[in-house]
Amino acid sequence: MNFPVNRPRRLRKNEKFRGLVEETYLSPKHLVYPLFVKEMAEKKIPIPSMPDMFQFSIEGLLKEIEEIVSLSIPAILLFGIPDHKDEMGSGAYDENGIIQKATMRIKKLFGDDILVFTDVCMCEYTSHGHCGVIKNGEVDNDETLKLLARTALSHVRAGADLVAPSDMMDGRVKAIRESLDISGFSTIPIMSYAAKYASCLYSPFRDAAESTPRFGDRKSYQMDPPNQREALREIHMDIEEGADIIMVKPALFYLDVVTLARQSFNLPLAAYSVSGEYTMIKLAAQKGIIDYKRAVIEATTAIRRAGADILITYFARDLGKWAQENSL
Ligand code: PBG
Ligand code: ZN
Repeated sequence: MNFPVNRPRRLRKNEKFRGLVEETYLSPKHLVYPLFVKEMAEKKIPIPSMPDMFQFSIEGLLKEIEEIVSLSIPAILLFGIPDHKDEMGSGAYDENGIIQKATMRIKKLFGDDILVFTDVCMCEYTSHGHCGVIKNGEVDNDETLKLLARTALSHVRAGADLVAPSDMMDGRVKAIRESLDISGFSTIPIMSYAAKYASCLYSPFRDAAESTPRFGDRKSYQMDPPNQREALREIHMDIEEGADIIMVKPALFYLDVVTLARQSFNLPLAAYSVSGEYTMIKLAAQKGIIDYKRAVIEATTAIRRAGADILITYFARDLGKWAQENSL
């Protein structure tokens, strides 16, 4: 063969060449670790649908965060499980609610060593398990906005560094922004679950957070999986309302949406690799069908390659460990 051939293999021949041309990086500094905190005596309880994940008591949570800090992971995303649920989800905005108490303890102990992000939603706190209040058999958008704004404010008063509304009510970013600003918290950012789809991949989470709806489903507020252009409209609205970071959720089944969001907007973009993505990989690895570490790194690299800046993932702890051993 004496004619020139294009040979991409020249730059794949060893690790050094591959390193020089590597386009996508994984680092703990992009990671957010979701954690579940519950009002209870035991330190932690395993979550059956999410191997190696736990519901933590506040005491247990503080210990876990110590480790997260030591792995250079900058932020946690907190989900609360109250000991009491009611129609109006009053535990969500109770000054002495589980998230409020946990956040106060964390900030007191760790200060600026960890960013506390809080999920703002009603579903863990309502007796019916929906993400808003029910009126005439339906989730009432505008009544819910008032409670979400109250919830976000109570989290920030307790010391939250950022609030992340996941309810998918229309107008919630504006409602939360206004309530924070009026109360003197204009410097606290909002990360909105802007394009959140009605996905089958949340079911392990709903076990973990005890938030499965008692009737119906979430399709009247979360997005329909076939839609892509609608995601752009949702994201656009949240930006107009004042979101600081936008999010696509889930991640792996929606990488097209991640890429499109990256190309269409210039705000920081987060992708939430959800509980179902986690458990699929965990179970396949436990069965010896795929290699755990390779699968986790490949999946998380794919989400970054698609365009996400920030990665919210239950794999954050393992990724942090691998980074610490220089094997990421
Ligand atoms: C609450 C909420 C959910 C998730 C994050 N916030 C569940 C849902 O909408 O039913 C899912 C996270 C996951 O599956 O890891 N609104
Ligand atoms: Zn919810």
